[in-house]
Amino acid sequence: MNLTALEPQALEIIKRYDEPRAAMLPLLWLVQTNVGHIPSEAECWVGGLLGVALSHVREVVSFYSMFRTREAGRHELRVCTSLPCMLRGAGDVLAQIEERLHIRPRETTPDGELTLTEVECLCACEIAPAGQLDEQFVGPLDRTTIDAIESDAVAPYTGSARIDEAHPFVSTDGPVISTRFRNTGGTWWDAYIADGGYVAARKALSSMTSSQIVDEVSKANLRGLGGAGFPTGRKWSFIPKASLKPRYLVVNADEGEPGTFKDRYILERDPHALLEGMIIAAYAIGSHKAYVYIRGEYFRPAERFARAVAEAYERGWLGKNIQGRGFDLDVVIHRGAGAYICGEETALLTSIEGGKGFPKLKPPFPAISGLFQCPTIVNNVETLACVPFILREGADRFAALGTPKQGGTRLFSLCGRVNRPGLYEAPVGITLRELIDRHAQGVRRGHTLKAVIPGGISAKVLTAEEIDVAMDFDSLQAAGTMAGSGGVIVMDDSASMIEALQSAAKFFAHESCGQCSPCREGTGWIHRIMRRIARGEGRLHDLDDLLAIARAMEGKTICVFADAAAWPVQSYITKFRAEFEEHITTRRGAETTHVDEARACPP
Ligand code: FES
Repeated sequence: MNLTALEPQALEIIKRYDEPRAAMLPLLWLVQTNVGHIPSEAECWVGGLLGVALSHVREVVSFYSMFRTREAGRHELRVCTSLPCMLRGAGDVLAQIEERLHIRPRETTPDGELTLTEVECLCACEIAPAGQLDEQFVGPLDRTTIDAIESDAVAPYTGSARIDEAHPFVSTDGPVISTRFRNTGGTWWDAYIADGGYVAARKALSSMTSSQIVDEVSKANLRGLGGAGFPTGRKWSFIPKASLKPRYLVVNADEGEPGTFKDRYILERDPHALLEGMIIAAYAIGSHKAYVYIRGEYFRPAERFARAVAEAYERGWLGKNIQGRGFDLDVVIHRGAGAYICGEETALLTSIEGGKGFPKLKPPFPAISGLFQCPTIVNNVETLACVPFILREGADRFAALGTPKQGGTRLFSLCGRVNRPGLYEAPVGITLRELIDRHAQGVRRGHTLKAVIPGGISAKVLTAEEIDVAMDFDSLQAAGTMAGSGGVIVMDDSASMIEALQSAAKFFAHESCGQCSPCREGTGWIHRIMRRIARGEGRLHDLDDLLAIARAMEGKTICVFADAAAWPVQSYITKFRAEFEEHITTRRGAETTHVDEARACPP
């Protein structure tokens, strides 16, 4: 292993960052890409280059699931078993793959060709059951796909075309965000310009002040579409005007909420829309440096976005003195490495700074003290991609598309047991019923709707009787759930709520960062109890134990991850208690369910 040969590249990478240790993740990626894994010698090398202790490098490597410290096969097949994939048969698919390859997850075939890994949501739920062979998404995984993977593992399988062309459905008719999604290979400079591209950024830089832009975005009622729903214009206005510190714009492209796959399409098919929104936002908040944090599994989206960034630099839309308007902006693309928690904004900032993705207590909020302790605005990809439309077409037009408190449209990811999984742009006031019945064409023939999770796996579940609700943030909150990331997971009458909750519990136990005890311990307990119930070894009092654990987690931790892990428990058990009780009593026998075995140690 010749690490010295990588040094020139490493030094180039370090230069992009405001503080050297922020180059931690890219340097670890550099090593893994070239060496195949991260040996301890490389950990020392990275620590030396960044001036940080070896112990710190080690804890970072161990935190991110995509980094490996041991040799693996020449190829890696990741198979997703999160809820939306499970609803479409991921469990059986994984079993088939294990049987065919004669290996279990985390093992490598004897010829060293393929390592099998079981993973949580890849955010390719529209092609569920989904997998990823090296850098390419593959799916839906079925006998044919598995044959192809098995026979073709040496020459990378090109099954990702199935995502773009035939399957699934993707909106292409806008009106705000999906108009260029018809360009499956990406919308590049000429096509973007021909379609009115950079008109809004030109207008902002040439004839608007920062506060006029903030006012316009506020008037449009644009809300944060990553999940929080906070008014975007108001967020931008929190940047302290008198601060002499640098200001940062950070784009959260760490899409990871099971059931969600919208930002991936923006990065792949319309990356200039995001970039133009970023330029306007950076100008409005007085930032000259933007970091775009793209999840580690998004190889092609990151490549496509990098191409758009290069085009913008070439055309004078990034760099010094943009379009002669005296405004400078540089963009750094920063790759995650497999940690859902980094989608939480303070964890994302800690991750960019070269640490484990640990959330921080708020206040101070990032707008006051964020990246490198400087004023920082963190915005989601879709939120920023709406901004050019607002400035070009007018705030009133955007606002009129939505409800009185939330303007515009939204990209809804529809997955699970529907006839037409896909990505649908629709006004935010559309009802859940309309989305499922008209856009996703309902549940499979011969089945009826049973339950829907309307905003990614963290949202509380709704029953089939509760779907006449509008999909904007306020209506869903009033209905006792949340709009979240817009990921709609549909379950029909053949779905088991026990399996669904077990799957959700597996996800949260896997993804807890472990910083706060109620979350670290609570997610583990919930997962172990649910696993036992699913195996037919549950007891009726387990249900009340689960609710008690969920109560002990909610509102007791640094970030809302623990709350998000508690909500599915509360809503599934409350709304489908009879099904849980029946499963426990019929699978185990009612007479044994009250036996109190080791309650202090639920597993
Ligand atoms: Fe499998 Fe999202 S890709 S659940």
